[in-house]
Amino acid sequence: MPKKMFVIFGVSNILWMVFAVSQAIKVDMFPDKSKIFAQIGDSVSLTCSATGCESPSFSWRTQMDSPLNGKVRNEGTTSTLIMDPVSFEDEHQYLCTVICGAAKLEKAIRVEIYSFSKDPEIHLSSPPEVGKPVTVTCSVPEVYPFERLEIELLKGNHPMKVQDFLEPSEKKAQETKSLDVTFSPTDEDIGTALVCQATLHIYDDDSPPKVRKTTKELEVYISPKDTAISVNPSTRLQEGDSVAMACTSAGLPAPRILWSKKLDNGNLQLLSENATLTLISMRAEDSGIYVCEGNNPVGKDRKEVKLIVQEKMFTVEISPGPQIAAQVGDSVVLTCDVRDCESPSFSWRTQIDSPLNGKVRREGSKSTLTLSPVSFENEHFYLCTVICGQKKLEKGIQVELYSFPSDPEIEMSGPLVNGNPVTVSCKVPNVYPSDRLEIELFKGESIMMNKIFLEDVSKKALETKSLEMTFIPTVEDTGNVLVCLAQLPIDEMEFEPKQRQSTQILYVNVAPRDTAILVSPSSILEEGSSVNMTCSSNGLPAPKILWSRQLSNGDLQPISENATLSFMSTKIEDSGIYVCEGINQAGISRKEVNLIIQVAPKDIQLTAFPSERVKEGDTVIISCICGNVPPTLIILKKKAETGYIVLKSTGGAYTIHRAQLEDAGVYQCESKNEVGSQLRSLTLDVKGRESNKDYFSPEFLVLYCASALILTAIGMIIYFARKANMTGSYSLVEAQRTKV
Ligand SMILES: *[C@@H]1O[C@H](CO)[C@@H](O)[C@H](O)[C@H]1NC(C)=O
Ligand SMILES: *[C@@H]1O[C@H](CO)[C@@H](O)[C@H](O)[C@H]1NC(C)=O
Ligand SMILES: *[C@@H]1O[C@H](CO)[C@@H](O)[C@H](O)[C@H]1NC(C)=O
Repeated sequence: MPKKMFVIFGVSNILWMVFAVSQAIKVDMFPDKSKIFAQIGDSVSLTCSATGCESPSFSWRTQMDSPLNGKVRNEGTTSTLIMDPVSFEDEHQYLCTVICGAAKLEKAIRVEIYSFSKDPEIHLSSPPEVGKPVTVTCSVPEVYPFERLEIELLKGNHPMKVQDFLEPSEKKAQETKSLDVTFSPTDEDIGTALVCQATLHIYDDDSPPKVRKTTKELEVYISPKDTAISVNPSTRLQEGDSVAMACTSAGLPAPRILWSKKLDNGNLQLLSENATLTLISMRAEDSGIYVCEGNNPVGKDRKEVKLIVQEKMFTVEISPGPQIAAQVGDSVVLTCDVRDCESPSFSWRTQIDSPLNGKVRREGSKSTLTLSPVSFENEHFYLCTVICGQKKLEKGIQVELYSFPSDPEIEMSGPLVNGNPVTVSCKVPNVYPSDRLEIELFKGESIMMNKIFLEDVSKKALETKSLEMTFIPTVEDTGNVLVCLAQLPIDEMEFEPKQRQSTQILYVNVAPRDTAILVSPSSILEEGSSVNMTCSSNGLPAPKILWSRQLSNGDLQPISENATLSFMSTKIEDSGIYVCEGINQAGISRKEVNLIIQVAPKDIQLTAFPSERVKEGDTVIISCICGNVPPTLIILKKKAETGYIVLKSTGGAYTIHRAQLEDAGVYQCESKNEVGSQLRSLTLDVKGRESNKDYFSPEFLVLYCASALILTAIGMIIYFARKANMTGSYSLVEAQRTKV
């Protein structure tokens, strides 16, 4: 090629030298080159200018005398040939002829055409994969003249192939020339660049060759592989569940993930382009094969997973089930609760189809049956039937009844009295079922009695059951505890309490006894003196004292509840029977005292009627009256040899009919009681009809009528001591006894 160019240069120089030497006039061509390269489509101007000539005339032609395609424009001393656009027809040697007067000058310039307007293009036969041969094509489009073209392909800095296209073009045309290299990329190639460099070796004078370069990053691919699926929570699911499936796939570039579902016809239905596929509220129809595909430009890799979504069976729960122990009278609510059914329908019945005896209420997915108050009619097996769609479920609950509402009641037949039998009853009210009841009675730790009611025919009713026992309490029982324990031990029924108990602390009474009255100073008193009567009584609890006075009809008139009954100054009317009663819960004990208030006898008058001197045969009445003492306390006596003889007197009067001499003598009237005595004496003188013998002894004429008790008593003692010829002392009391 350079050889050819030299030839062209040679011709041009010769022409130029001819004209320059022969003429003084000078012609210049612009561009001032023997040859220019013009690219197809460009605009080229050739300017010819003459110097040293006033009015030159220009003419343009090609050396081959082919037609000029361009337009000529002359302006004074210049002429311009414009070829716009330049095409293959314009490739010529152009001659500009200048005529100036007689002189004729010529200037030549060669225009050569080329086409090299586009950068090379790099194509890969397939996306490059590590280890897989790939053909890289570098093509240079619309190039001319391609025999001057050189294409070089480099990988990074390393040349892979260089090619030129030396066969000359057969016709003037733009062609696309390309270079192919086949190679197998390696891992090291990742990130390197493919460079395609096209060089068109055309030179006008010293300009460099034209170079176009295209660089393409070598993207090395790895086909998707190791595609894996992780399923959370499981591939076996229930209707309504959610599942998340994450898919990963290795490759370069990172594979795009596609999730699809395999349809019945085998086609895939795209679901998501995300790595994680989340399916919520799944239904049975969502069962099937899910496909994850990882793909990138060089391939795809699939993985399948089979999901099984089980149809969810609706459930029925009955509560509180499966059985309930209900206390008679309480309120019981049975609840039938449905899950996983959109519109269930409910119905309630008893197993034996008896009336429900309750209120049914629907609350969303629940139905309640309220038995309030629960009674014996409700002791059934209740069934709740639920229909959901085509399916039907039934759940049952047994309602069992019991009644054990209160603690046992302990009752005593009466107060506890030491030694007296008493009946304790322990009563358990409103119990059911009473045939399961057991009652035990304890005294302290030891059992006294127990009773079961098994033999009782159990009827559906609340019954009151009781245990009774009789025992004899003693004082030692006081403080002990009586326990009544009732048990309803139905193990198969859940209720509380299953036992109840009551306790009672024993307090044993002792009836009043040893009731005693202490009279101070004495129960027989002189009027006006004071007396204290104190009553005491033993018993448990300590008896209460009640003093009463016995009335003449025998009734008691209460006086005082004080132990001591005091009289500061007694009167006769205070005499009588006083009753003291010791009273407590266990009984009454009574004691009585006879209070005697007396006055000492006084104002005794002893008289003889008609006179104390009578004759034999006369009737004489000796009479004794005392101012304050009843006649019964008046004793008439007559002195005899051996002492005094008590006379039979009536109302204090003694009558002597036909008095004898022996009736003469000393008569004495005595009135005495516990508080004193008085004596009166008189001497009856009876004169005989035949004799007048006076046998009255003056010694006995002494009259005693002392008002003072003690003086009288002393007097009497002196008197009796002397006159009765008695030895030593004399007891007034004994004397009275012998004579009363
Ligand atoms: C993919 O996930 C992103 C967020 O993780 C979300 O915004 C997008 O909508 C999802 N696309 C599909 C098709 O599910
Ligand atoms: C009776 O009791 C009172 C008070 O205890 C006492 O002052 C009085 O002396 C008592 N009288 C007699 C007669 O005992
Ligand atoms: C009982 O005794 C109290 C004081 O000990 C006295 O105040 C009261 O009057 C007495 N009652 C009778 C009815 O004697």
